[in-house]
Amino acid sequence: MKVLVTGGLGFIGSHTVVELQNKGFEVVIIDDLSNSSIDVLEGITAITGKTPIFEKLDLKDKLKVETFFNAHKDIVGVIHFAASKAVGESVEKPLLYYENNLNTLIYMLKSVLGLQASNFIFSSSCTVYGQADAMPILENAPVKPAESPYGNTKQIGEEIIKDTCKVNDNFNAISLRYFNPVGAHESAKIGELPLGVPQNLVPFITQTAAGLREQLSVFGDDYPTPDGTCIRDYIHVVDLAKAHVIALQRLIDKTNASNYEVFNIGTGKGSSVLEVIKSFEKVSGEKLNYKIAPRRAGDITKAYADTSKSNNELGWKAELTLDDAMRSAWNWEKKIRNL
Ligand SMILES: NC(=O)c1ccc[n+]([C@@H]2O[C@H](COP(=O)([O-])OP(=O)(O)OC[C@H]3O[C@@H](n4cnc5c(N)ncnc54)[C@H](O)[C@@H]3O)[C@@H](O)[C@H]2O)c1
Repeated sequence: MKVLVTGGLGFIGSHTVVELQNKGFEVVIIDDLSNSSIDVLEGITAITGKTPIFEKLDLKDKLKVETFFNAHKDIVGVIHFAASKAVGESVEKPLLYYENNLNTLIYMLKSVLGLQASNFIFSSSCTVYGQADAMPILENAPVKPAESPYGNTKQIGEEIIKDTCKVNDNFNAISLRYFNPVGAHESAKIGELPLGVPQNLVPFITQTAAGLREQLSVFGDDYPTPDGTCIRDYIHVVDLAKAHVIALQRLIDKTNASNYEVFNIGTGKGSSVLEVIKSFEKVSGEKLNYKIAPRRAGDITKAYADTSKSNNELGWKAELTLDDAMRSAWNWEKKIRNL
């Protein structure tokens, strides 16, 4: 069965391609390499023994998207990762984010509606909840006003898909709301490749330990949490990748409860910034150079998932631990830095 993975050379996409190929799916990747490297294809091949079909294509090019789908009418599902994802950059360049994240989604949906098998998985984010009123966060928690244009593209993206589902009974979609994806494949053949200064905690930790960054700043230790630092739900990227395969299979098997569903993808456990640092130091044997810095604007205090819906209805559960994630992230960093 042929599956299209957009953004399939990116961090989460590449791990998902591996899990899809391991399950016997034939994968076609579309990526414009705006935030990834063609070398990722080699990593995927080395792990799975199979090279996915690859099309270098900018999904903002509507005509090329249509031409692509005309040549691949046998696709049974689309997993749409392609998007720009840097929160800070989205504040600086809102139109770039609205154009890349929404136009690509709309062109993709128009084409998917023309397929025999109209199955669609969307990369959403826990950012839609903002600072939720209650922990852990349930899927029916209110969506809060977005803190950034990036976050807004995820909220609007979900709305676009929901509206499309309302008037197309044969179109089936699932939005997966990821919490904080971290880690790398255990083979260290694929992992996260941030361009420039990492925006996320874990690559900043591993780059600091590898000597690329001098020091990690922990933004605020006076939050109302047990150790004063912010709490997040860190989900291993391989567990996250497996959630996509399960969600896609659910649509292919037509076992979905309605034609639009939303699931939280997290571990259900919150970890503080200091706990993540401790985990890294434990599994790597490295002492991390970090300092406590003032709070950063826009950071919420805590966010962790209620995973009962994804555990019970989707039939997916995170299996890997924070230590597993930190170990794999460190092995990946050492590999790409030749340490
Ligand atoms: N990583 C996270 O923390 C996180 C959290 C929640 C949601 N998400 C979402 O998950 C998805 C994947 O995230 P990721 O961390 O793997 O990001 P990533 O940047 O590593 O991967 C995205 C891929 O899409 C490609 N791409 C971007 N615009 C494109 C376009 N117009 N045409 C073709 N390809 C294009 C990029 O080159 C890249 O390879 C994104 O939609 C992101 O918003 C990520």
